Amino acid sequence: MTNGYFNIGGDRNIARMGFGTMRLPAWPTGTQPNTDDAIRVLRRAVELGVNHIDTAAFYARDGVSANALIREALHPYPDDLVLATKVGPRFDGTTQLPPAEPRELRADVEHNLRELGTDRIDLVNLRVGGLEGPSDEPLSAHFAALAELREEGLIRHLGLSNVTADRLAEAQRIAPVASVQNHYNLANRADDKLVDTCAEQGIGYVPFFPLGGHVDPDFLADERIVAVSRRRGATPAQVVLAWLLGRASSMLLIPGTGSVRHLEQNIAAINVALDEHDYAELNSIGSS
Ligand SMILES: NC(=O)c1ccc[n+]([C@@H]2O[C@H](COP(=O)([O-])OP(=O)(O)OC[C@H]3O[C@@H](n4cnc5c(N)ncnc54)[C@H](OP(=O)(O)O)[C@@H]3O)[C@@H](O)[C@H]2O)c1
Repeated sequence: MTNGYFNIGGDRNIARMGFGTMRLPAWPTGTQPNTDDAIRVLRRAVELGVNHIDTAAFYARDGVSANALIREALHPYPDDLVLATKVGPRFDGTTQLPPAEPRELRADVEHNLRELGTDRIDLVNLRVGGLEGPSDEPLSAHFAALAELREEGLIRHLGLSNVTADRLAEAQRIAPVASVQNHYNLANRADDKLVDTCAEQGIGYVPFFPLGGHVDPDFLADERIVAVSRRRGATPAQVVLAWLLGRASSMLLIPGTGSVRHLEQNIAAINVALDEHDYAELNSIGSS
């Protein structure tokens, strides 16, 4: 893969085009790809140079779980593979339960370790808040609990998900933060300042819903994205991924798909070059 690498946490080089697994069990909604297809997608991703795979133990529905699929497809894991999981939220199926207490995070990390069949997870994100945007609730007690597990060697690096700049600063007073995973894409630019802060500090910024996800299913049909994609001979998904890659060198992508064809297209977005005219047209989306 030629899309360049980012050194996460100072010791792991990851390809900037990664893969998110939430789509594989179709959690919390959508049509599940069959298991063989899901496994094919994961193996093809690694074959094409993806070495950053995002997951969560709660990405599980109707007996299909992202962690189990990853293990079946890829274990024993290549040395350079960075598995990133998230803890904090708790679910019964797709029904949200109260979040984990700090003392419960050990069990949640150990659950991920068991499911993934590994004795250390490269990146564990503390995911806070709900679905209504970044949470500004203090997170020290939770983050300190994860920092302890990192000291013990169960976790290599810590990240945060769904946070504001203030919560990032709060966590950094406890332990280094290797990445921030927040909702961000061409149409949802509320985090623009935080993207720049992360780039300045060498923190990976991992946008979730890079293609709009299930919350914005019409995103790729925006006429400005379609116009640029026609000019570039690319797909709309490739255009928005190329825009994200160009946004900051610390931008690490994890688009999700249950289709090998879409996966291959998404990875090929690294070869889509946008010009000033394209940027002007695309940037008008986020500022409209
Ligand atoms: N931290 C958090 O709170 C949080 C929240 C949400 C997600 N995440 C992470 O972020 C990752 C990415 O988010 P996401 O998967 O929900 O949303 P996404 O990547 O924005 O979009 C996935 C959707 O786009 C479609 N798609 C993918 N490639 C396409 C292509 N080339 N052309 C047309 N459609 C395409 C997929 O359908 P097909 O299967 O048909 O391709 C799927 O419906 C997740 O997998 C998960 O790891 C984290």
